[in-house]
Amino acid sequence: MSKKRVLSGIQPTADSFHLGNYLGAIKQWVAMQETHDAFYCVVDLHALTLSTSQTDPKLFRKRSLVAAAQLMALGLDPEKCTLFIQSQVVQHNQLAWVLECMTGFGEASRMTQFKDKSQKAGADRAVVGLFTYPILQAADIMLYDANYVPVGEDQRQHIELTRDLGQRFNSLYGEQLVIPEPFITKAAAKINDLQDPTAKMSKSAQSLAGVIDILDAPEVNIKKIKSAVTDTEREIRFDEKNKAGISNLLTIYTALTGKSISEAESEFAGKGYGDFKGAVAETVVTYFAPVRERMSELMSDEAELQRMLKRGAEKAEAVASQTLKRVYDALGVVPRG
Ligand code: TYM
Repeated sequence: MSKKRVLSGIQPTADSFHLGNYLGAIKQWVAMQETHDAFYCVVDLHALTLSTSQTDPKLFRKRSLVAAAQLMALGLDPEKCTLFIQSQVVQHNQLAWVLECMTGFGEASRMTQFKDKSQKAGADRAVVGLFTYPILQAADIMLYDANYVPVGEDQRQHIELTRDLGQRFNSLYGEQLVIPEPFITKAAAKINDLQDPTAKMSKSAQSLAGVIDILDAPEVNIKKIKSAVTDTEREIRFDEKNKAGISNLLTIYTALTGKSISEAESEFAGKGYGDFKGAVAETVVTYFAPVRERMSELMSDEAELQRMLKRGAEKAEAVASQTLKRVYDALGVVPRG
């Protein structure tokens, strides 16, 4: 039986991915390249919706390459999966337009990420790209006939929209698009900010004191973890409602060590928060040390990195161009002779 197809993407909006990106998404990507026919992309076009991406072309370019290198340093192997930069496969924009023509204005307005981000920017300054962002994401997914989309919990609504758009297209034009399912790992679906453990860890947070960048220097991350907000009790116990900070640290600790929550609870029974935080910090820093090393190797040969990405884009395009042709044919678009 042929392998099921997987697609996911990540925005190159910072110099380093954070722990939420890794545990919520990338860790699953690495595992799934062994078991699935996997396509992963650095979604640079999505990142253009951010004004900071538009003001510094050199930084924008560097971040796309750094993002791709980080994915490899974290374990993606271009021999096992198809790794590429979204903008190098033009069919993404082409399918997005077709889907935009089938999306209701109200439907797009209901996307919570759009509502949050446009509110932050202020209605007058929010760009149209922020509004159509989830439709481009739907195109990313359905161009590759993806069965599963490994993402964090915050992306569930976008996958739902993708499914709705795919079903709408299919009901009008026959079974052309594969309807994907979200693949969300319960245990690490939402990693929270260390300073505000009720909010998700995010690169757009106002303060970065609670965000663990995986490429940051060990001493920076040790300090951030040791200063994580907890509670006034003494017990190390998983209770998201009453002990959000400790629960978040337990989630991080167990996700990185492979231990279960109850194993971790007994390991730290009778110990203080200081000991526990020290162990979490040590785990995080040790886990990502080889990634930092591998990163500098990969970034030292940009030409080789670009060659690998070119091969990825070619493999991706071979699939994407077939899907687009199928869609255009179904729509009655006249092919160029
Ligand atoms: P981005 O770059 O914002 O996030 C990348 C991935 O990281 C996950 N994530 C988290 N998971 C758990 N806890 C957190 N605190 C946390 N923060 C981020 C996100 O859920 C995501 O899986 N819109 C997508 C990018 C995209 C995409 C696609 C994804 C564009 N096209 C096609 C899948 C398929 C996003 O949020 O990226």
